[in-house]
Amino acid sequence: MKQFFRKKLVVNDGEALGLKKCLSAFDLTLLGIGAIIGTGIFVLTGVAAATQAGPAVVLSFVIAGVACAFAALSYAELASSVGGCGSAYGYSYAAFGEMIAWIIGWDLILEYGVATAAVANGWSGYFNNALTAIGFGLPEMLTKGPFAGGLVNLPAVAIILILMGLLIVGMKESARLNAAMVFVKLLTIAVFIAVAVFHVQPENWSPFMPFGWFAHDESGHTIGVLAGASLVFFAYVGFDAVSTAVEEAHSPQRDVPIGILASLIFCTVIYIVVSGLLTGIVPYTDLNVPSPVAHALQQIGVNWASALVATGVIAGLTTVMLVLYYGLTRIILAIAKDGLLPGFFAKVDDKTQTPVRNTVVCGVIMAIMAGFIPLGALAELVNIGTLAAFVLVCIGVIVLRKTHPDMSRPFKMPFGILLPVLGTLSCGALIAFLPTITHERFVLWLALGMVIYFLYSAKHSKLAAR
Ligand code: ALA
Repeated sequence: MKQFFRKKLVVNDGEALGLKKCLSAFDLTLLGIGAIIGTGIFVLTGVAAATQAGPAVVLSFVIAGVACAFAALSYAELASSVGGCGSAYGYSYAAFGEMIAWIIGWDLILEYGVATAAVANGWSGYFNNALTAIGFGLPEMLTKGPFAGGLVNLPAVAIILILMGLLIVGMKESARLNAAMVFVKLLTIAVFIAVAVFHVQPENWSPFMPFGWFAHDESGHTIGVLAGASLVFFAYVGFDAVSTAVEEAHSPQRDVPIGILASLIFCTVIYIVVSGLLTGIVPYTDLNVPSPVAHALQQIGVNWASALVATGVIAGLTTVMLVLYYGLTRIILAIAKDGLLPGFFAKVDDKTQTPVRNTVVCGVIMAIMAGFIPLGALAELVNIGTLAAFVLVCIGVIVLRKTHPDMSRPFKMPFGILLPVLGTLSCGALIAFLPTITHERFVLWLALGMVIYFLYSAKHSKLAAR
């Protein structure tokens, strides 16, 4: 039994993995913003306002943002002290030992892999709409998978393969494209804010909280501000991907905490402003549409809005996929380095200094998933997977404060263990507000992970061999 709880206090082992150190604090912040702003704000805000929270969706964003802030501070502390590659996986290895680290690594693979493939599905819809608008729309057979009445979702496959090529070429190049796309999506949001601010009708904010804090509707669905917070939490998913870039940051102990906290604070402010304006310019009941931001702009007579928002969404979703896909490959690399996955995944190419094989395998699997499987329902799994990682990272801070009180902590949270305790409670509560079916699917995924751990990982662990 003892062997499952072997701990490995990872040190910042610099270039040990052979990855290229090329990212500054600014690059990391842009990567964070790249991963964070996407479907959540452009799509889910409308659904959450119309069906769960009303104009109080602003409060849902605040609550989810506060829970994320506790987790982000915990990530920042561990990134500066434990460091090492692999994000929450690496921190769990230090705090709880190998088996829990594997579980959280397996959970992160789910989070990043499913999120990337699911976002590719959404991206494909917007991309095809844009093609149709300029007269080059694809036939339906090529925009839907076989379960949805088509043949293959070709744009979804194509975008993943393009990002695969980019991530193989190099991280600096990927970061540059990310920066350009982040600029486009922020420009879209700035235009939305500038236009919307002059069209607010305060009566739209009343009633402010039509569904209360938490309840069930007639068909048993959870509603209210707290259920809304569990849903819009998806909008924050991704800041943790910054912590997978430790090996490629110039000075990780300083820059990774900056990247995590700066991107989260920036996006939280944007979310609060955008959701407040969105529910202020049209009645919340009108927002249950696929593209609520474009819809709201059209309602107030700004008809060029669709094209503008479509550009923002296409750019936004591209960066979300890019950064989450990137994070996925780095986590798998770290797990494979430790022997818990086959060594094939741990090879870094000498020339490009990127994990080419691992990037190709992940890309092909995600392209197949995105091309042939409808992933909408699975996207909820991303929230529970991420929240579970956040809970463990917060508990990890508490454990390491006790077991390694003298460890060097260049970034240390104030007020003792109060903030990570609040992080554990708030992220745990958001898990509880998710639908039961999501809980059940998550348990199934973890059970599959345990089977792999006992059949393969426990036997090939490098730490155990040592
Ligand atoms: N936070 C990302 C999004 O909203 C995953 O699309």
